[in-house]
Amino acid sequence: MIFRPGLEGVPVTQSAICDIDGLKGELTYRGYPLADLASNSNFLETAFLLIWGELPDPKQLREFEHQVQMHRRVSFRVRDMMKCFPASGHPMDALQSSAASLGLFYSRRAIDDPQYIYDAVVRLIAKIPTMVAAFQLIRKGQDPIQPKDNLAYSDNFLYMLTEREPDPLAARIFDRCLILHAEHSLNASTFSARVTASTLTDPYAVVASAVGTLAGPLHGGANEDVLAMLEEIGSPECAVPYLNKAIAEKRKIMGFGHREYRVKDPRASILQSLAEELFARFGKDEMYDVAKALEEAAEARLGPKGIYPNVDFYSGLVYRKLGIPRDLFTPVFAISRVAGWLAHWREQLGANRIFRPSQIYTGSKPRDWSNPESRTPSKEN
Ligand code: SDX
Repeated sequence: MIFRPGLEGVPVTQSAICDIDGLKGELTYRGYPLADLASNSNFLETAFLLIWGELPDPKQLREFEHQVQMHRRVSFRVRDMMKCFPASGHPMDALQSSAASLGLFYSRRAIDDPQYIYDAVVRLIAKIPTMVAAFQLIRKGQDPIQPKDNLAYSDNFLYMLTEREPDPLAARIFDRCLILHAEHSLNASTFSARVTASTLTDPYAVVASAVGTLAGPLHGGANEDVLAMLEEIGSPECAVPYLNKAIAEKRKIMGFGHREYRVKDPRASILQSLAEELFARFGKDEMYDVAKALEEAAEARLGPKGIYPNVDFYSGLVYRKLGIPRDLFTPVFAISRVAGWLAHWREQLGANRIFRPSQIYTGSKPRDWSNPESRTPSKEN
C-alpha cells in the first residue's frame, strides 16, 4: 500500500474534460487548445463545451445563452438572507452560503434526468455572478441591482458589480479571463466537487463544497494574496531582496508553483498579455513592473526547481484594472470554475463510484476508558 500525501500523481478517476501537459505547459478543454478558445470563443460557449463535450451549434448556443439570461435573477429570499450576512465577511463565505441556499429552492433531486441536469447547470451559471455582485452592493449598504437583459454575460456581471455598463474591451477581456479559469482537471476544488457528487447529493451542494475548497490561499485564494505581496515589495528593485528573504525563511511566493506545471502556467502568459492590453488602453498599474521583476528574479532561484508563475500571478492585476475589488478576485475565479465543476459533476454521475479512499492508521492501540479523576492533563495543541 503506497501512501501518497495529497494523492500526488494518483489517478482517482478517468476524465475526458481537460488535459494538461505540465512539462510543455499545454492545456486543452475537450481537445481544444486553451489559447484558441481564449482568442475565439466566449465563456458561455466554452462552458457548454466543457459540460456537454462538444461546441454548441448556433441554435444550441442561442438557447443556452437565452436560458442563462432568463435565470440570472435571484429570489428576494436569497437577497434578504445576504443582507443578514456581516458586511465584514469574506465574499467567498457569502458565495458558499448563497450557493448552498439554492438547494432549498430547487429541492427536487432528479440527477438521472437530463433536463434536471440542464436546468441546474443553467441556474448555477446564471445565478453565481448575480450573487457575487449582490453581496458587493449589499455590504456597501446598498440594494443589489437587477441584471440587465440586453447585456451579454460578462458585460452584465460588470454592470451589476460597478452599476455602470462596462467598456466593450473591458468586458471582452473579462470574458476571456473566465475562459482561462473555467477548468483545470482534478485541482482541489474540482476534486471536492467530484467527491461530493459521488454521494449523489444535489448540484448546489456540489458547488458549495467546491467554493469552500477554492477559497483557500494555496488554491484560488492566492490571486488576492499576490497583489498584497507585490504591494509589500513596493518597487522592482526590492524584488530580489524580498525573494531571497522569503526563500531563506522557507515562505511560499504566492502565485508561483504548481502541482502539474514545471514551466510557466500557459494561463499566466495569456493573462499577462491581457493585462498589457488593458494597460495600453486604460493606463498602467505600477505593480506590473514589480511583478515582472519578481518573475525575472524567481526564474534564477526557483526555475531550476520547476517553480514558475501560475494562473494567480497576473490575474489580480487584470481584475484590479477592471475595477474588481481585491477580495472579489476569488469569487470571480468561482464564477468561471463553476463550468468545470459542473462538467465534472455530470461526468461523475455518468460513471459513479462513491469516493472512499483508505488510510494508514497511526493512532493508539486499543485501551480502556479511565475515570476523569485519574487522568493527567492531555496536550491540547
Ligand atoms: C491554483 O491544481 C490546480 O490546477 C490549481 C489551479 C487551478 O486552476 O485550479 O491551477 C489554481 O490553485 C494555482 C496555485 C495557487 N497557489 C499559490 O500560488 C500558492 C503558492 N504555491 C504553492 O503553495 C504550491 O506551489 C502549490 C500549492 C501551488 C503546489 O504545491 P505542491 O505541488 O504541493 O508543491 P510543494 O508545496 O510540495 O512544494 C514542492 C517544493 C517545496 O520545496 P522543498 O521543500 O522540496 O525544498 O517546491 C517549493 C516547496 O517549498 N515550492 C515553492 C513554492 N511552491 C512550491 N517555493 C516557493 N514558492 C512557492 N510558491
